Amino acid sequence: MGLHVFQPVDLDEILEGAFRFGGDSWALLTAGNEEKANTMTVSWGGITHVWDKTCAIVYVRESRYTKEFIDAQKKFSLSFLHHDQYKGVKKYLGSVSGRDEDKIKNAKLNLNFDDGIPFIDEADNIILCKVLYKQLMKEENFVNGRLIADYYAKGDYHYYYIAEIKKVMIR
Ligand SMILES: Cc1cc2nc3c(=O)[nH]c(=O)nc-3n(C[C@H](O)[C@H](O)[C@H](O)COP(=O)(O)O)c2cc1C
Repeated sequence: MGLHVFQPVDLDEILEGAFRFGGDSWALLTAGNEEKANTMTVSWGGITHVWDKTCAIVYVRESRYTKEFIDAQKKFSLSFLHHDQYKGVKKYLGSVSGRDEDKIKNAKLNLNFDDGIPFIDEADNIILCKVLYKQLMKEENFVNGRLIADYYAKGDYHYYYIAEIKKVMIR
């Protein structure tokens, strides 16, 4: 009986798929209602399993306008658009705040709704979520203090939201 031989695997390979976050991949996090909604680019997050449910986890800094809509509705969507075709949209929605501009209109995107949750109609893949848990990251909880210097020199810590996936839609 020989020992198993293990091969190292490139991290990118285990993270492939339509609902991939991170690296070059991104999604639009949209929240609000029929009257008013906002969207922002996110690339941190993923699909996770907790409390016997399949959930999405996203990381949203305190300062994001979109956060106000998530907290008000306790629901949000993740819309995955064609990465190359919507490169400009990714940049625009990830750098301008909805406090200053009507981003969805300016990006020439259309909102659609499912069970009251807004999502981006131009997306290929959509995840609709209901928030179960949110928590603000705290300085004293960082095991690796370098991360504070690297990511929170100006404060504005991330909240993370664990949200039950209620529905997944594919074009
Ligand atoms: C590629 C990319 C990924 C981003 N990922 C995140 C993220 O995961 N979390 C976050 O809080 N901000 C992220 N941002 C920044 C927000 O999208 C950006 O601050 C946006 O303008 C917030 O808009 P709002 O104020 O209208 O909510 C990202 C930006 C880009 C360009």
